[in-house]
Amino acid sequence: MSELRSKLQDKRSGRNASAPASRPAPPPTPRAEVKRTREEHGQLPGSEQWIPSSAGEKAPRVTELELRDVSFWYDTATGVVPAVERFSLQIAKGEFVSMVGPSGCGKSTVLRLMAGFLHPCEGAVYDESVLVSGPDWRRGLVFQRPELYPWLTVEGNVAFGPRMRGLPRAECFSRARHYLELVKLWEFRRKRPYELSGGMQQRVAIARALANEPHVLLMDEPFGALDALTRERMQDELRQIHARTQCTVVLVTHSVEEAVYLSSRCVALSDRPAQIIAEHPIRLGNGDRDGSGREIKASAPFVALRERIMDHIWH
Ligand SMILES: Nc1ncnc2c1ncn2[C@@H]1O[C@H](COP(=O)(O)OP(=O)(O)O)[C@@H](O)[C@H]1O
Ligand SMILES: [Mg+2]
Repeated sequence: MSELRSKLQDKRSGRNASAPASRPAPPPTPRAEVKRTREEHGQLPGSEQWIPSSAGEKAPRVTELELRDVSFWYDTATGVVPAVERFSLQIAKGEFVSMVGPSGCGKSTVLRLMAGFLHPCEGAVYDESVLVSGPDWRRGLVFQRPELYPWLTVEGNVAFGPRMRGLPRAECFSRARHYLELVKLWEFRRKRPYELSGGMQQRVAIARALANEPHVLLMDEPFGALDALTRERMQDELRQIHARTQCTVVLVTHSVEEAVYLSSRCVALSDRPAQIIAEHPIRLGNGDRDGSGREIKASAPFVALRERIMDHIWH
């Protein structure tokens, strides 16, 4: 017990009020076998050439983010809640990875560990081989709910991160303008968050994360609260943003369709505590990503790939 306590105290930097200080680690659950598809090792049958959905795959793979054997458990009044167990994942620079899994399995916890808001009870998180010891502008997190600063205007919210980093005022506001235009909210810059709809607030939250120009964008079901049309528009925005900025993206989503549309790799998680049960590279053939979002999602190759991933993940 005392050995565990000292181990935990070594690992915690004091910011993680939820991590246990005095309770023993929960017993390990059997390690899930990670299913990997044969596509990972070569081409899919019947295809001449496969193009990656993110440009990042064209470049040599350099690891941007790594979780190495990470476990995390919450210490609650009613006992220890194991949320993540022996979780290992490498994400390459410029890659767009989506994570799917049952509700309550630990997806948000994994993202918070990546962001540095939580510290692993065991294992470690690395950002470009440097140990993650706390939040950093390099890793932007978009939460499920917008969580904007109510006392600031829309523009003030978006400029907040760069201002806190001490960037020149003109630079802060030019970034705010750029990213508010990107999410089509520049004309609402003088409004307060409560004057906007939920979808608009979420777009401000995305602009706020982007204004820091993070190397890694961590998104926790960012479109979950949006109406269907806005969600589709935001997916297209995100595709364009990723193509333009080449930043690394980790997206938690409930939708396999969204994962196939946006990402180049889909990681499926088990029930809590989260472990990786399957990984699936997402590749569509040449021309399969041409056209509007709806056309692409309705196309035969897209539907076939989506169904194959659904089968692979959930059976
Ligand atoms: N701050 C917290 N304190 C205690 N338990 C928590 C806390 N946050 C999450 N949990 C628990 O950890 C588990 C994983 O939560 P979470 O990562 O939010 O799951 P997901 O995002 O997949 O829905 C859940 O059982 C949840 O109840
Ligand atoms: Mg969540």
